[in-house]
Amino acid sequence: MNIVILAAGQGKRMHSNLPKVLHPLTGKPLVSHVIDTARSLAPSSLCVVYGHGGDVVKSTLAAPDLAWALQEPQLGTGHAVMQALPHLAPEGVTLVLYGDVPLIQPETLQKLLHAAQDGPDAAGALAILTVELADPTGYGRIVRNAAGQVVRIVEQKDASAEEKAVREVNTGIMALPTARLGEWLARLSNDNAQQEYYLTDIVGMAVAAGLPVRTAHPAGEWEVLGVNSKVQLAELERIAQRRTAERLLEQGVRLADPARLDVRGTLSCGRDVFIDVNCVFEGQIELGEAVEIGPNCVLKNARIGAGTRLAAFSHVEDAVVGPDAVIGPFARLRPGTELAAGVHIGNFVEIKNSKIAANSKANHLAYVGDAIVGSRVNIGAGTITCNYDGANKFQTVIEDDVFIGSDTQLVAPVTVGRGATLGAGTTLTKDAPPDTLTVSRAKQLSVPGWTRPVKIKK
Ligand code: UD1
Ligand code: CA
Repeated sequence: MNIVILAAGQGKRMHSNLPKVLHPLTGKPLVSHVIDTARSLAPSSLCVVYGHGGDVVKSTLAAPDLAWALQEPQLGTGHAVMQALPHLAPEGVTLVLYGDVPLIQPETLQKLLHAAQDGPDAAGALAILTVELADPTGYGRIVRNAAGQVVRIVEQKDASAEEKAVREVNTGIMALPTARLGEWLARLSNDNAQQEYYLTDIVGMAVAAGLPVRTAHPAGEWEVLGVNSKVQLAELERIAQRRTAERLLEQGVRLADPARLDVRGTLSCGRDVFIDVNCVFEGQIELGEAVEIGPNCVLKNARIGAGTRLAAFSHVEDAVVGPDAVIGPFARLRPGTELAAGVHIGNFVEIKNSKIAANSKANHLAYVGDAIVGSRVNIGAGTITCNYDGANKFQTVIEDDVFIGSDTQLVAPVTVGRGATLGAGTTLTKDAPPDTLTVSRAKQLSVPGWTRPVKIKK
């Protein structure tokens, strides 16, 4: 089986410098949705037809299993498929998809392929994916004879008043025997209202050749919606997000509001997960059993252990959080953060490239970067690891059971020994010995008899 993805159209109505098919839907390019769906059908060849200026499409999506056919100029859908011909295996079925129709489902395409392969005739059939629309304006219409058989497709601009009344339309997606494709494409003419080589004209040719023409239908109209504008892109985003939310609900995830969740990647959840409103999940996210995500959290490429609670407005990126941790509100876990079980990270605490072992806490206003922190450590409010000297980054090591007083600076590289206590306000520039109080602080001084200045009268 061959798959051809048509993606040479300009997308003028997107009003953007980015080629239309690269606009993101649920965090990945429109055409990548189509490519991924195509791959799930395991085709023997997969060819993307791209247009002038589409080199960025090619360089963005380059993959060893993709063949590329340049269509320049763009003379219509039939002309587009013609450019792909040299990349196709000469036998079997060819499936034509649109790069700007991203939500098409593999099950629907299986039905269509089945319709193209099935039957008494080894030559197969031409199968068209069609839908009935309340308003078919703009689409090619499916013209049937009195017996209900498809005889041809007529484009809106070429249709008679009677044909325009037909509500069954061509979605553009079709499957057909490759052996006939070359010959049919060669016979296309552009003698029509748009002076284009219409792929749809091969339907009439198949009928004339006595090949069966069948139709198949998507499970929902949304599967075949195309993107021509930012309005349509936003509509499809909502549809895709709604479907993701429904899938999560069906799996048992509790969502405060399925309409206020955005998943731009893959979110996998254990049992009894709860997600409050306005959370964004990007990349690969794993939430363990009974994880609770508070409102307005953003998680990107993260793994959160069972029973952990992320309070409102927490931001987590490229980080791993162990079980039974308490994070936020307003916590920021940056790339390279690894928190073990029972760690507490509170408000306005930033952790970067640091490992924090079990049951340690940094509950208020701290920066921990490039650090190795042991178990049961208490990091006081306002603590800062000074990991950067303006040129290089250095590591801070804080061993088990350390207590760090508030407003402490640890000037890396530096080690705080097991069980040590650092007095509040310490600027630590040398290693602190274990089980000892270390404090660096100007001696407190009280000046007897000192009086406040008073305003001088003029
Ligand atoms: C096409 C169909 C129409 C169908 C409609 C569904 C034809 C002649 N018409 O119409 O029956 O109802 O889609 O949306 O096939 N493309 C190229 N190269 C080209 C022209 C188009 O790659 O030269 C690609 C576009 O990028 C797009 C797809 O083909 O992905 C369809 O193009 P579009 O211009 O939207 O087709 P319509 O004229 O709307
Ligand atoms: Ca279109």
